Amino acid sequence: MFKYSALLALVTLVPALANAQSQVWGQCGGNGWSGPTTCVSGSTCVKQNDWYSQCLPGSSNPTPTPSTTPTSQPPNPPSSTSSSTITDPTPSGTPTTGNPYTGHEIYLSPYYAAEVDTAAAAISDSSLKAKALKVKEIPTFIWFDIVAKTPDLGTYLKDASEKGKRENKKYIVQIVVYDLPDRDCAAKASNGEFAIANDGENKYKDYIAKLVTEIKKYPDVRVIAVIEPDSLANMITNMNVAKCSGAAEVYKRATIYALKELNKVGVYMYLDAGHAGWLGWQANLAPAAQLYAQIYKDAGSPQFVRGLATNVANYNALRASSPDPVTQGNANYDEIHYIEALAPLLSSQGFPAKFLVDQGRSGVQNIRNEWGDWCNVRNAGFGARPTTNTGSSHIDSIVWIKPGGECDGTSDSSAPRYDSMCGKESAHKPAPEAGQWFQAYFENLVKFANPAL
Ligand code: BGC
Repeated sequence: MFKYSALLALVTLVPALANAQSQVWGQCGGNGWSGPTTCVSGSTCVKQNDWYSQCLPGSSNPTPTPSTTPTSQPPNPPSSTSSSTITDPTPSGTPTTGNPYTGHEIYLSPYYAAEVDTAAAAISDSSLKAKALKVKEIPTFIWFDIVAKTPDLGTYLKDASEKGKRENKKYIVQIVVYDLPDRDCAAKASNGEFAIANDGENKYKDYIAKLVTEIKKYPDVRVIAVIEPDSLANMITNMNVAKCSGAAEVYKRATIYALKELNKVGVYMYLDAGHAGWLGWQANLAPAAQLYAQIYKDAGSPQFVRGLATNVANYNALRASSPDPVTQGNANYDEIHYIEALAPLLSSQGFPAKFLVDQGRSGVQNIRNEWGDWCNVRNAGFGARPTTNTGSSHIDSIVWIKPGGECDGTSDSSAPRYDSMCGKESAHKPAPEAGQWFQAYFENLVKFANPAL
């Protein structure tokens, strides 16, 4: 990688010097970041956490206001005079029957588009660059992994609302709610900003309230949310890990709180449910169904809870042509088998769950040494495109949840968030911190995309 970077640096020296500033919404700092540390005019580099600084619109305001619109992204920026924000909406209170994706366009994340633009600018091979640029037209979820990003949701919703009015269309903004206290309890790579020991549960409630405040303002935009990747799945298999058993009650309470609050503002929700190689093992299916059904009931069977999301940030196929040898005889060797095994167990307990399945990085199969490999799996490719044409009545949509190119975890063994899974033979190295842009990884996702880009 070092050699490769040096070569890349030579090849791209001139354009890099001419363009040594990050775009609005682009990264501009953080531990391990070697890209530009200044922002284009009209935006300011704001530290979000030790690992991430971002160019936010505005000259020196530390947090963008919801009324600020991106200056260079997305395409067709809305006119600043056309705001018709409704401040005290009454969402209908009744969810649509059927698939919430139906009849809606999906809003493209300006944040991801800026990451992809910057990435494409650093690619000299013109065919690869053209393919890379296509990725920004494919909808991916927007992760709210720190409370400081919550005002951005208002910016996106406002933009989606105005686009919808201009184009006479209805938009969906797809988000991931991801900030539980003691987050990522069985791993280290994505440990979060809140600690249970430091009032984390209340801080989480405040984080949810901030999301709700933004969502309330734009009732004409539909929000679809994936709730807390990995958290409840850890409650099934990782209770032997002290941080997980210690967090269990808070995870459950906080999840129920999030479901209730987001239900009030009409957010269609899918709880994260691990993947086939995690909860899809026979011994885990019934306990998993019981936990999800219980959480759903304890939250008052919120009408906008639509179901579960599987394979988030993982690499499994929806329908594998043959079982990957690493699946070791598990009858549920891909996501469709897992979903079909889990769905009846949920329904029989009163949770008639529908599913979303992440296929963003599932284009290439049989690339892992063990099914449990989850960190920056080498030679992965972008996968099936988002579609509601899923071939299964259980599945609302194939989606891209993990933004391909953002890292799963650092390979720097001296970093506090180093997880040994990211140092394994199957993991692409050297890798930056979780969530940071990983250029070499992105380029491979583009190269190995299946279907091709
Ligand atoms: C990281 C988050 C990031 C998300 C999406 C997670 O692994 O911890 O910071 O937002 O991936 O890339």
